[in-house]
This record gives sequence, C-alpha cells and structure tokens, in this order.
Amino acid sequence: MKAVRLLEYGGQLVFNDVPTPPIARDEILVKIKSTAVNHLDLVEASGTARQILPIDLPWIPGHEFSGVVEQIGSDVAACEPGDAVFGTTTGMGAYAEYLAVKAAAIARKPSNLSFEEAASVPVASQTAWQGIFTHGHLEKGQTILIHGGAGAVGAYAVQLASHAGATVIATASGDDEAYLNSIGASRVIDYREAQFEKVLREKVDVVFDLIGGDTQKRSFLVLKEGGHLVAATQPVSQEETARHRVSGAMMRLAPSADVLGRIARLLEEGTIRPDVATVYALQDAAQAWKDIAGNLPGVHGMSPSGPGTARRRSHGKIVLRVAWREHEIRGRAYEIYLARGAQPGCELEDWLQAERELIAE
Ligand SMILES: NC(=O)c1ccc[n+]([C@@H]2O[C@H](COP(=O)([O-])OP(=O)(O)OC[C@H]3O[C@@H](n4cnc5c(N)ncnc54)[C@H](OP(=O)(O)O)[C@@H]3O)[C@@H](O)[C@H]2O)c1
Repeated sequence: MKAVRLLEYGGQLVFNDVPTPPIARDEILVKIKSTAVNHLDLVEASGTARQILPIDLPWIPGHEFSGVVEQIGSDVAACEPGDAVFGTTTGMGAYAEYLAVKAAAIARKPSNLSFEEAASVPVASQTAWQGIFTHGHLEKGQTILIHGGAGAVGAYAVQLASHAGATVIATASGDDEAYLNSIGASRVIDYREAQFEKVLREKVDVVFDLIGGDTQKRSFLVLKEGGHLVAATQPVSQEETARHRVSGAMMRLAPSADVLGRIARLLEEGTIRPDVATVYALQDAAQAWKDIAGNLPGVHGMSPSGPGTARRRSHGKIVLRVAWREHEIRGRAYEIYLARGAQPGCELEDWLQAERELIAE
C-alpha cells in the first residue's frame, strides 16, 4: 500500500510503498478514505516532545480516519466487511491506504456525512466531549468560557455545551464571531482586542482552555469558587488552583467508541455539525503541514512565514483524502466480480461502476 512516512525526526514526509499491516484477532483492517491533520502529528514528528511522546521511526502519522472495513479479526463481532466507519487509531498510522485498528476505537460513520467530513470528527469532538463533560463536569444552566472557541476542538465544545443547556462564552478572533454565534455561543470576546477577565461581568463555572500560557493564568480570575479549569495544552498550576479554590487539570484524550457513537448520533440528527477547512490529497500531506505550522511556530522545523505557508482559515480541520488510482479500482472490481459477480445481471462493468461510486463518496 501507499503511505506517508517520516524517516527521521524533523525530516521531510515521503510518500511511497510499505507493506499493508496485518491484523490481530481483535482488530479490523480499514481501507482509508480520508484522514485529518492534528497539531500533535507535527509535534511528534518534530521530536521536541520525544521524551513524553516517542515515536518509532520510520513512522506513519495520523490519529483519525474514515473508511470502509476491508477485513475483520476472528474475535471481532461489532462490524463486518463493507461497513463505513470512522474513529481514532490505536497508535498512529492513518496517513495510509490501509490501517489496522482495534474494533473498540471505531463507530459507524454518520450516514449524512461525507468520508471527508467524517475523518475530521473523532479527535476534536471527543476531546471537546471529555473536556467539558468528563473533566469539566458541565451541567445544564451553568456558564462555560471556551478559549479558542473557533478552533477544531473549540467548535465542538461550543456546540456540545450549548446543546447541554449551558451558556457559552468563547474567546476567538473577531472574524469568527458570526460563525461562533451560529453554532451556539451567546458571547464572543475578540482575544486580539480585549482581555476577557476585564470584560466579563460574571464569573463562570467552567473554563475549557485550548490556548495555554498567559490565557490559562488569567483564567483563574474568572472562575467561580469550586469551578473547574480544564486545560488541553499544558499542565495547570496546583498552587494556583488551591489559591483560587477551584479544581484544575490538564486532560488527555482517551478515545472511546461509546463517546464517538453518541457524537455520531448528534451529527446524524443534525444537532452538531463538522467543519472541514481544506482537503488535500494524501500525497500532499507536507503542504497540509505547512498550512497548519502557521499556528505552531518552530514545530517540525517550519517557520510560519516560510515559503508556501499561508495563514489558514481560523476554523475547520485540514483533511487528507486517499485517492485511489484507476488500475487499483479496476483490480478491486475484478476481484469482487470473480468472488461474487457470477449473478444474473451483474457484469464486470456493474462492479466497476459500484466501486467507482464507493470511491467517489
Ligand atoms: N489534550 C488533548 O488530548 C488534546 C487533544 C486535541 C487537541 N489538543 C490541543 O488543543 C489545542 C487546540 O486544538 P485545535 O485542533 O482546536 O486547534 P486549531 O483548530 O488550530 O484552533 C486554534 C484556535 O485558537 C484560536 N486562538 C489562537 N490564539 C488564541 C487566543 N489567545 N485566545 C483565543 N483563541 C485563540 C485560533 O484563532 P486564530 O487563528 O484566528 O488566531 C484558532 O481558531 C491544540 O494545542 C491541540 O494540540 C489537545
């Protein structure tokens, strides 16, 4: 199969042939349709955090995917070949044509989402869910302040908190105010123009911090006593939490098929929606990383102002689409024809057409 790989820390991404991964008894082999880019991909590739986030080189990045089940291990009962699924990887490896993954980390793809939209969902939405409900204990009637509300994680946090009956205040660029209001924020504070602790009149029950640094430090000033500070980017000072009589901790996403299944239902009924900013072909992953590096100065050796680096739209995920080549589509259609095609009215051309439609979805 083809895959995008990193051969050395801080090196270039290469796109070439690698063996298709074997599956264990509790795993499934997914034919990947799309994967999405996360900050973590670049941080791990840079090696700057190798003591806490080591990777085995050569390494295939990619934490999330959408695709079709190709093969199942002998212990897997939850899905069968042909099912459209999405989920998080057990380790990494989704920048590839095939992925071996634990069946426990996936859910059925919402039928109203394209494969590109579905690939953008698992990491950001589950981080938001666990940040505001599992760690933030957010309840109906409470007020939450979400820093970075227009980002990939923030937009799900805004939608989920609003759906849960909380009042949502978000910090973001002023350009994103209308977008944030449209997905459930009742107030948007432009972080470039105002200091949130100076303009907020009332204290909040929960702060979900997707920014860190000084933003996190100032967040203690707006939390009610007994409130929760949930940080996604850096540890929280326990001295400060004690001083302000609040709780605070850094969260780490713990992917769950149960949570993803609940999110899939909310997507399917239209209660929440995904946001895809840009779609690249898988082999153009290096360009996608250049786009995202604008938000991550110094990571993977890329300067935000370097050549080819555009300031990307401030909301929505970058998705990589696996493009299947014509001879592969034909080869696969022929295999299916040989295995199942000897039925009246089902010629090779019909299987080819069905395979093309599946690829195009
Ligand atoms: N702990 C975990 O398990 C976990 C899981 C997933 C993600 N994360 C982390 O969570 C963070 C957010 O991820 P993401 O994917 O949502 O990022 P993202 O899509 O790049 O969004 C970041 C957003 O923050 C905004 N922003 C920048 N500086 C800000 C400030 N000072 N105040 C308010 N908003 C500001 C940006 O707007 P402009 O571009 O307009 O400035 C952008 O909309 C990342 O650091 C990521 O690594 C952690």
